[in-house]
Amino acid sequence: MASCIGLFSLCVLSVLWARSVIASFVPVDCFFIDCGGNETRKLDDGRTFQPDSGNSTVVLSPTSHIVASKNVTGPLGLYATCRVFTETSTYTFTVKKIGRHWLRLHFYPVENPDYNLKSAVFSVVANGITLLHEFSFAAISGKRSSLLKEFIIEVGGLSSNKLVLTLSPTNRSIAFLNGIEVISLPDNQFPETAIPIPVGPAVEIQTNAAFETAFRINMGGPLLTPRNDTLWRIWEPDRPFLLSLASARNVSTNPSSVKYPAGVSVEIAPNWVYATAEEMADANVGDQRFNISWAFRVDCGFTYFIRMHFCDIVSEALNTLAFNVYINNQSALNSFDISSKTMQLSSAYFVDFVVNVSTGSDQILIQIGPSNLRNLPPNAVLNGLEIMKISNHNNSLDGSSYADFTGFKGPMKMNFIVLTVLSCLAGITLLLITIAVVLCLYLRHPKKPKQHPLAWLPLPTHVGNSETKVSIGSFASTSPSLGLGRVLAFSEIREATKNFDESLVLGVGGFGKVYKGVLENGVVVAVKRGNPRSQQGLVEFRTEIEMLSKLRHRHLVSLIGYCEELNEMILVYEFMAGGSLRKHLYGSDLPPLTWKQRLEICIGAAKGLHYLHTGASESIIHRDVKTANILLDENLTAKVADFGLSKLGPTLDQTHVSTAVKGSFGYLDPEYFRRQQLTEKSDVYSFGVVLMEVLCARPAINPALPREQVNIAEWAMNWQKKGHLEQIIDPHLMGSVNLDSLRKFGETAQKCLADHGVERPTMGDVLWNLEYALQLQEASAQTVADESSTNYIPDIPEWTPPIESSDCENADIVSNQGSDAATTSAVFSLLMNPKGR
Ligand SMILES: *[C@@H]1O[C@H](CO)[C@@H](O)[C@H](O)[C@H]1NC(C)=O
Ligand SMILES: *[C@@H]1O[C@H](CO)[C@@H](O)[C@H](O)[C@H]1NC(C)=O
Ligand SMILES: *[C@@H]1O[C@H](CO)[C@@H](O)[C@H](O)[C@H]1NC(C)=O
Ligand SMILES: *[C@@H]1O[C@H](CO)[C@@H](O)[C@H](O)[C@H]1NC(C)=O
Ligand SMILES: *[C@@H]1O[C@H](CO)[C@@H](O)[C@H](O)[C@H]1NC(C)=O
Ligand SMILES: *[C@@H]1O[C@H](CO)[C@@H](O)[C@H](O)[C@H]1NC(C)=O
Ligand SMILES: *[C@@H]1O[C@H](CO)[C@@H](O)[C@H](O)[C@H]1NC(C)=O
Ligand SMILES: *[C@@H]1O[C@H](CO)[C@@H](O)[C@H](O)[C@H]1NC(C)=O
Ligand SMILES: *[C@@H]1O[C@H](CO)[C@@H](O)[C@H](O)[C@H]1NC(C)=O
Ligand SMILES: *[C@@H]1O[C@H](CO)[C@@H](O)[C@H](O)[C@H]1NC(C)=O
Repeated sequence: MASCIGLFSLCVLSVLWARSVIASFVPVDCFFIDCGGNETRKLDDGRTFQPDSGNSTVVLSPTSHIVASKNVTGPLGLYATCRVFTETSTYTFTVKKIGRHWLRLHFYPVENPDYNLKSAVFSVVANGITLLHEFSFAAISGKRSSLLKEFIIEVGGLSSNKLVLTLSPTNRSIAFLNGIEVISLPDNQFPETAIPIPVGPAVEIQTNAAFETAFRINMGGPLLTPRNDTLWRIWEPDRPFLLSLASARNVSTNPSSVKYPAGVSVEIAPNWVYATAEEMADANVGDQRFNISWAFRVDCGFTYFIRMHFCDIVSEALNTLAFNVYINNQSALNSFDISSKTMQLSSAYFVDFVVNVSTGSDQILIQIGPSNLRNLPPNAVLNGLEIMKISNHNNSLDGSSYADFTGFKGPMKMNFIVLTVLSCLAGITLLLITIAVVLCLYLRHPKKPKQHPLAWLPLPTHVGNSETKVSIGSFASTSPSLGLGRVLAFSEIREATKNFDESLVLGVGGFGKVYKGVLENGVVVAVKRGNPRSQQGLVEFRTEIEMLSKLRHRHLVSLIGYCEELNEMILVYEFMAGGSLRKHLYGSDLPPLTWKQRLEICIGAAKGLHYLHTGASESIIHRDVKTANILLDENLTAKVADFGLSKLGPTLDQTHVSTAVKGSFGYLDPEYFRRQQLTEKSDVYSFGVVLMEVLCARPAINPALPREQVNIAEWAMNWQKKGHLEQIIDPHLMGSVNLDSLRKFGETAQKCLADHGVERPTMGDVLWNLEYALQLQEASAQTVADESSTNYIPDIPEWTPPIESSDCENADIVSNQGSDAATTSAVFSLLMNPKGR
């Protein structure tokens, strides 16, 4: 009976609690406008969108055109219509509450015969603040089908209670808009001050400053949609921004256990945000003192507001967790103890910072790591993160980034510039170019294969830098039969994969699933379907298309085509029937490879990498060399795959490329890790790890093993230095490996794994040495028939590697991307025939 009552009161309590959380705030102003719509539209997250005409609180002038689509593909029915403006037009909202308001703008270029909305160029200003300057959907969205921009605008000031939104088409272009949300902020949502970085006295945040949400992250948790947020915000997962997935582990607690002390309301962030966090993984790294790092791409020259949400959901007792927080390599919080602020566990807390992102830098780096002051177990947590751009002195949130052509900033930027340049070149210029190209083609010898027009081809983007100018011709096919990657229709891909039939899944990675498919022309392909939500994925998707489109080599996986329709990011590769090299080494029941096969595979992969480093006019660094990224065809010919992380190498006057550390744990060049300076030698190091893996048939990192054996690079190097590498080789190789060949192989791997890049050989040297090792093996194989095999390693090893524990390959730590392109194939057609070289 008593327990019944207890249960009942618990129910009542939790209902009360739920109410207090969900219904605690009703915005004074709340406009949801469906531009061009003609009826109220109720969304399942509780918002009701009203049409933008015939409403006295929303005045639209002058009138404009409505474009409707029967194809409602957007996430909201909202995207069925949009309004198109051919001249400068305004929306005027009369608000009840003076103060800051959220302003959300929805863009979805509705397909229609009259206007090309995608390429429209226009500017948007709200109460004198430039929100978007010469905005072009195509340039900004990167082929996403819709775009949501969120701003915070002050309404008030000079006795005005109006929010005036002005859309101005640039020159003779048009402007368009699908939806508008205007919501008044709760009081105290923004404090008056924040901590500057580098840390100093708190600085004031101007009341008339406007903000643009750059990132809103739910650390360690899932995507939170407007349904899960009382203010209809979107919180994205953090994994795509983590520099090393292995460094962090997600933790979560029951959201209802999150307490909101005075000063923190559920409007600051929903309890779902505080209930999940990333903490330090006790990754099998030797040093327990490391930082978890997230990098966010931002626009330089602006000041950013950073809000960090903390909630100690990991500690058992008060004052047992203290950690450091860094922003852009500078200390933000030192030995921070959440519970000393909240006086209880599972209690919400947030801290605000402002940081200047100076010209020349385009990222905000957030790091958390253990405090070194106290004798506490090393750990650190972060539950949520918001990064907002603050308007500059010119009242703008959209800088003059259009003029920034200095330096190479990666594929996003390149493409962005291409589009900008293209849109700037008026018809006549284009016509001239076309004529010139046609003339050129006409005058050329008809020898050259014709290039498909491809959006991602390196158009002359390297403006003003003749040294690095790329000519498309120089990348021309070494195997012309394959042709360049082409744009494939989504319907074509759907057909090829039987509507993405689960039974055709070859593998799953962070990027998405990989399917086997058959194109209409009978070509068997691997179809990598990206997760459309992942912004990081988008960058890598682009990189991969860009890299693979200009590379053709027998030992590089060929891109057959790609598809960017709707929200899709799909890459189509040649199908590699043999799967990944890794699967042939351990963790499957495939027959073990012979030593000769292993050497030939290593030689093939080395050739591919050598070509990447030296073959093209600009050297390319792969950055994610590992056995999972070396794929085998049905003849066991090795091909290097997965260029999602690739970077152009240093140009002549540079010695390295500075970049955030990416790659896979266990394969990372320690020098790169320390100094974040990328050279081709980082690939050489990773390849050294691959060589050891091939020799020992175990994963690069195997946490199940005794400590000194966890990291193959360390462990194998110990044996190699002792001169007894044969002690740890794959038992299957026993008795068939020529000792001289093994010695050569070991030496080569050892050189690759040198601590300092300068001491490592080039891929060309590695290749030469491996070929030599193969010759030694083959020469001995010929004589072995008539001689006694004393030169071979005896059959029974003194020590047997525990290969059965290789299951932890799933813990294989892939940074930022799944990258297991077509690795786990259930449909190997195994022809153990290493011919055709
Ligand atoms: C006008 O818009 C406001 C805010 O969206 C809404 O509450 C109101 O019902 C609308 N009025 C009409 C007549 O549609
Ligand atoms: C507008 O309203 C008419 C009738 O009221 C309806 O037939 C039509 O489908 C509506 N158009 C849109 C785009 O909702
Ligand atoms: C709807 O989409 C399909 C395929 O994307 C297209 O063929 C059709 O023309 C579209 N219809 C309209 C009215 O836009
Ligand atoms: C718009 O037109 C003016 C004059 O015709 C020109 O100077 C300017 O560059 C154009 N702007 C854009 C973005 O095309
Ligand atoms: C950012 O730069 C502005 C102008 O250069 C300066 O006034 C401000 O104090 C800086 N803010 C921080 C947080 O460093
Ligand atoms: C948390 O981690 C587990 C295991 O590592 C994983 O399965 C899960 O998807 C993660 N959750 C989120 C929200 O990332
Ligand atoms: C988000 O809200 C939906 C609907 O209320 C609910 O089903 C879902 O569990 C929520 N997810 C999270 C992570 O809160
Ligand atoms: C942080 O430090 C690393 C290496 O020390 C450097 O590469 C990076 O550019 C720095 N980041 C910022 C924002 O200063
Ligand atoms: C964490 O990052 C900060 C700033 O980049 C650096 O100063 C510090 O040494 C790092 N700590 C560890 C343990 O690597
Ligand atoms: C403001 O605009 C002027 C020119 O329009 C430019 O020279 C100046 O650098 C801008 N200031 C800021 C802070 O962007």
